[in-house]
Amino acid sequence: MKYIKNQENLNGKIILLRLDLNVPLKDGVITDETRIDKVLPVIKFLLANKAKILVISHVGRPKGKSINRLSLKPICENIENKINIKIKLINENIFKLRKNDFFKDPKDQLVFLENIRFYEEEEKNDITFSEQLSKLADIYVNDAFSCSHREHASVSNITRFIPSFAGLQLQTEISALKKITSEIKKPISCIVGGSKVSTKIGLIKNLIPKFDNIILTGGMANNILNYKGHPIGKSIKEDNCNEIIDEIFKYAKIHSCSIIYPEDVAVGKNMEDKARVKKLNEVINDDIILDIGPKTIDKIKEIIDSSKTILWNGPTGYFENSNFANGSYEIAKKIVENNKKNLIYSVAGGGDTIAVLNKLGVVNNFNFVSTAGGAFLEYLEGKELPGIKALN
Ligand code: 3PG
Repeated sequence: MKYIKNQENLNGKIILLRLDLNVPLKDGVITDETRIDKVLPVIKFLLANKAKILVISHVGRPKGKSINRLSLKPICENIENKINIKIKLINENIFKLRKNDFFKDPKDQLVFLENIRFYEEEEKNDITFSEQLSKLADIYVNDAFSCSHREHASVSNITRFIPSFAGLQLQTEISALKKITSEIKKPISCIVGGSKVSTKIGLIKNLIPKFDNIILTGGMANNILNYKGHPIGKSIKEDNCNEIIDEIFKYAKIHSCSIIYPEDVAVGKNMEDKARVKKLNEVINDDIILDIGPKTIDKIKEIIDSSKTILWNGPTGYFENSNFANGSYEIAKKIVENNKKNLIYSVAGGGDTIAVLNKLGVVNNFNFVSTAGGAFLEYLEGKELPGIKALN
């Protein structure tokens, strides 16, 4: 892999910089800026080397449609304020753009293309789209480790057409994760939560041989509860998962890995509601499970106490409403407590998990915090991520 850090002579070159600016947005306001702060070093590095930067990123999942609320505009404004440089956000159709449309004014240094997932070609890894993107620049840099598990046009096929390099953040994340996975101490427990059930459920099976405990919370836990015959009311769940869950439990038995899932839950009637703690058999038709309950929290704390390594991806519930943040906060506090006593090695990953840690002000009390969620889990699986493969 070639690293942009080692590259000389970037003066005047146009760099197509793939970032992951998929930050949480509420009514157009950024609620956690960590992913933005993490990419400032690569932007500053390229500017210091007198390169011109053409940024591409996605935010959210617009599925090939142009959706106003998923514009990169608030993100551009945030970066402008942070580095005090004017940013141009280009809305024109990428297929109609040519390289010499950019940086005509010598004062232009930083240009953003609008949300790359407004184009259906992106998620299809469309080769013509990758080629068109490549024609807009001299060099491609992937500094989006957290998107590198996606086989998408601006992450994967793009490297076929243009000299390609790893960015600073990608380099940092990979070397940290390499070190962690090679020096990991047992017993290892992995806590998986969040709402991206479809992304994660398939990879749990591959994590089983590597871990002593896998703790399933968040949206994924609803599928397990449903599979076990417990009512889940109107809670989110993925369809057609029973076969994979069956395999998860069989495989876990073979590998002596304990699968832990909620023993009680916190429910609401809507996302803005107050929390009511319920036993599993008390959940009714119009309940939405939005967090784990106190019994489950205690069980997870015991597992943390019996572990030497904790890997955590995804909040245990809908933490955006503080009534349902208790599970995530209690887990974070327990990990920090044990970490301060040097009892465990702790790693957290993912945009929402970082947002939880930031809300508690404990992001620096973990041994390593990765910006990546899905990519972090896939890396732990031992898979070569498509974005990394493309750079290699
Ligand atoms: C993430 O938030 O993990 C990355 O931005 C990838 O987003 P995705 O799960 O929508 O592909």
